[in-house]
Amino acid sequence: MTQDILSHTEAGVTTITLNRVDKKNSITAAMYGAMADALQAAAADAAVRVVVFQGHETIFSAGNDIGDFLNKPPAGKDSPVFRFLHGIAAFPKPLIAAVCGPAVGVGTTMLFHCDLVYAGDNAAFSMPFVNLGLCPEAASSLLVPQMLGYHRAAEALLMGEPFMAEAALEVGLVNRVVPPTEANAYAQAQARKLAAKPISSLVETKRLMKKGQATLVAQQMAEEGASFGRMLGEPAAKEAFTAFMERRKPDFSKV
Ligand code: COA
Repeated sequence: MTQDILSHTEAGVTTITLNRVDKKNSITAAMYGAMADALQAAAADAAVRVVVFQGHETIFSAGNDIGDFLNKPPAGKDSPVFRFLHGIAAFPKPLIAAVCGPAVGVGTTMLFHCDLVYAGDNAAFSMPFVNLGLCPEAASSLLVPQMLGYHRAAEALLMGEPFMAEAALEVGLVNRVVPPTEANAYAQAQARKLAAKPISSLVETKRLMKKGQATLVAQQMAEEGASFGRMLGEPAAKEAFTAFMERRKPDFSKV
């Protein structure tokens, strides 16, 4: 049982908190497993109507824990990371995220599976997969172009540079920008409003909005997952991850 993910349920809302601030809420396999379990429990529990993901007002998540990923690369579709990704993509009830500070890699791509996203004005979204010798995950290669349009998606996914809360609001990734000290409370208040609505209508409305995409999303995730897993073992990713550990710039001139 990891303390790096906290989960509690109150007034019909399950709140899942990334709680590893000293490591910038980077996500280990144990944390993916805990979030997948919390989602599964929330889906099955009739008392839960809404799930909120939140981090800290200074950091949402630095994405995959790089050391953990290198030591224990995800193996197969039952691995914790894939259980989590399938869990958020197929979650039947409303999902809300409160995002402050950096949201790197999966910290951003998971938001494309949330129904409502509230950001602190310090939120910085980035998907630096190319800079890490990898490729997109979480069906982001499908969902980012759909939401941002191809050229802005190419900028986000090929350049991998951060974009801030206001830009995310403009492209529709974020519903509202608030002061960082208010983001978690604002998301919680919105969740309580949703939790007071009829759950059957919430679930059916979400199902109808998502059904046209569900198969495509699952296929894209599977294809991305196979490429991502292969690329993790290739020289470009090894160089990027070693450079991160050694706190230097990666040298891709030979890969
Ligand atoms: N995996 C493992 N450890 C990480 C991490 C990650 N993705 N991101 C941050 N950390 C650790 C650092 O190693 C450092 O640990 P230490 O205190 O033991 O040295 C600690 O968290 C603080 O990180 P630091 O980089 O000093 O914080 P910062 O405020 O200067 O920068 C980020 C914050 C998020 C911008 C920066 O940490 C970053 O870019 N992280 C990597 C993001 C990434 O590439 N993720 C992979 C996506 S697949």
